[in-house]
Amino acid sequence: MASSLTYSLFPISFILFLSSFIYTSTGAFSEDLSDAILTKRMEKHTHLHFYFHDVLSGKHPSSIRIAGKPKPGAFGDTYIIDDALTEGPNATSRVVGRAQGMYAISAQDSDVALLMVVNYAFALGKYNGSSISVFGRNPVFHDVREMPIVGGSGLFRFASGYALAHTIWFDFKTGDAIVEVFMFEGQRWADGYFQWLLSSEDVVLFLFGF
Ligand SMILES: *[C@@H]1O[C@H](CO)[C@@H](O)[C@H](O)[C@H]1NC(C)=O
Ligand SMILES: *[C@@H]1O[C@H](CO)[C@@H](O)[C@H](O)[C@H]1NC(C)=O
Repeated sequence: MASSLTYSLFPISFILFLSSFIYTSTGAFSEDLSDAILTKRMEKHTHLHFYFHDVLSGKHPSSIRIAGKPKPGAFGDTYIIDDALTEGPNATSRVVGRAQGMYAISAQDSDVALLMVVNYAFALGKYNGSSISVFGRNPVFHDVREMPIVGGSGLFRFASGYALAHTIWFDFKTGDAIVEVFMFEGQRWADGYFQWLLSSEDVVLFLFGF
């Protein structure tokens, strides 16, 4: 059975690889992309672009230190965040969601690298209530940092992909920062593939034939 199944799947994966990619940029917060697959099956991808406001200073910080040495900025520092995500770089621009989670300085060398464990909870339009989970290494003084998307909920169920972060403003005195974020999200290939498989009558009949 296993070898017959493998044999039967091979031509399908070949067809998926032939899929063409349609992409148009609108410069907006989000855009949906479609893979037109020869079988007329559509697969969704989403690109997101927004700004992340990490505020440690003032009366209402959105990032609070919960552990670390007495002097902040050292290995072990851990913060819990509920940071606003906005459409534009200005904190007064439209809020598209919140980054909720934690980060910790997890590198002992001078290359300050954070461990990021963050859920991006979106609140705009059709994305309201859907989230993307990011877990990765963030060497904050590098120009562009890449972090893996490890999952999601709602419209982002089965999400995978990656996020790129680029700091556009940083206050060395307070630690406050504004970070531009791009997300390239897509349904995890294997999951999408098996969903397609299960929704394809021909293949289901073929499987029941055994
Ligand atoms: C942000 O927007 C406010 C109000 O619209 C404006 O006063 C301020 O100058 C803007 N800040 C920046 C950095 O553009
Ligand atoms: C998002 O959904 C919540 C709960 O369903 C609702 O209270 C809120 O008004 C919605 N926000 C937007 C911007 O649609």
